[in-house]
Amino acid sequence: MDDELNVLVSLDFPSLYLKKIQDVSSGVKVQATSDTKELLTLIGDADVLLAGVFSRELFLAAKRLKWIQSLFAGVDRLLLPEVVQSKVTLTNASGVNSTAVSEHAIGLMLALSRKFHFFVRNQIENRWKTSDVELLTQMEELSGKTVGIVGLGRIGGEIARKAKCLGMTVLATRRNLSAPKPEHVDRLVPTEHRKQLLADSDFVVLALPLTKDTEKMIGEAELKSMKNTSYLINVSRGKLVEEEKLVQALNEGWIAGAGLDAFEVEPLLRDSPLWQMKNVIITPHVAGLTPYYLDRLTDLFCDNLSHFLRGESLINVVDKKLGY
Ligand SMILES: NC(=O)c1ccc[n+]([C@@H]2O[C@H](COP(=O)([O-])OP(=O)(O)OC[C@H]3O[C@@H](n4cnc5c(N)ncnc54)[C@H](OP(=O)(O)O)[C@@H]3O)[C@@H](O)[C@H]2O)c1
Repeated sequence: MDDELNVLVSLDFPSLYLKKIQDVSSGVKVQATSDTKELLTLIGDADVLLAGVFSRELFLAAKRLKWIQSLFAGVDRLLLPEVVQSKVTLTNASGVNSTAVSEHAIGLMLALSRKFHFFVRNQIENRWKTSDVELLTQMEELSGKTVGIVGLGRIGGEIARKAKCLGMTVLATRRNLSAPKPEHVDRLVPTEHRKQLLADSDFVVLALPLTKDTEKMIGEAELKSMKNTSYLINVSRGKLVEEEKLVQALNEGWIAGAGLDAFEVEPLLRDSPLWQMKNVIITPHVAGLTPYYLDRLTDLFCDNLSHFLRGESLINVVDKKLGY
């Protein structure tokens, strides 16, 4: 029927959540599949796409698509030139897992500072080891330390709030400095003075999107401007960092260590030197995982769908030119 709004969900979405979407309006027809062939058939009539599986081929086969809702906060994989040039609105899932990602970032900071990574290695070998004096003297406290948050959005803002609760000094940078400074941020640093933030921080946390402006933003010069006692935490995207330079920085002691959830190539290659580094904690791009993800994502999508049906502006609209 032409007056029905066709919503296509390009993943195997649990029926409970599909029902929630269907319940938004009787004028909505919801279909879901992750099968690429079937998707290519269904996309022709879709008005709205909740995008799991996505490709250029799929987008080009869409004839009446008006809105894509991303499953994730980061939309770098969806921003094909064709999508950017089109009139299709793109919304992201920013906020859905900012609690999980911010806790993950704080967890990495705590683990590196309290040396959990060394103790877990010892535990695997049944070793009670208190003789490593150098290690024990490096056991630190977050309280009193400085965190520099690069990207003060939903995730960065939550990291700032939690870091403040732990007694840290909070520096942050974001693109737009004209918005008011959140109270738990001690100093907002303009992006052009980012190196000063890097130099002043004991922990540098990357919480910004991957865009043409941010790709490889952490290279040799940035890593060298950090203190040799400081840590890099990346809970965003691997391509923000020149990984080869990061490996060199960790090997040569430009910085003390890193907590990494995102990598230039994922899965991280089996022969990456990062795996064996004692001063690195690796998590496999799981910072955003939480049991509440699908509930919150579905609630966001249903709210947005109601807005869409009423002709109102949508929540979390991405500026396709800026890339976030
Ligand atoms: N590891 C994971 O599992 C996981 C999970 C979720 C998200 N992520 C990543 O985390 C990113 C951030 O998510 P979010 O929800 O916090 O996004 P968000 O609310 O849109 O915040 C993005 C922040 O980055 C800032 N920013 C953008 N470009 C910048 C630049 N060139 N220099 C400095 N700051 C810049 C923005 O500045 P303004 O405030 O001035 O606009 C904003 O503060 C996502 O894009 C995604 O890549 C990772």
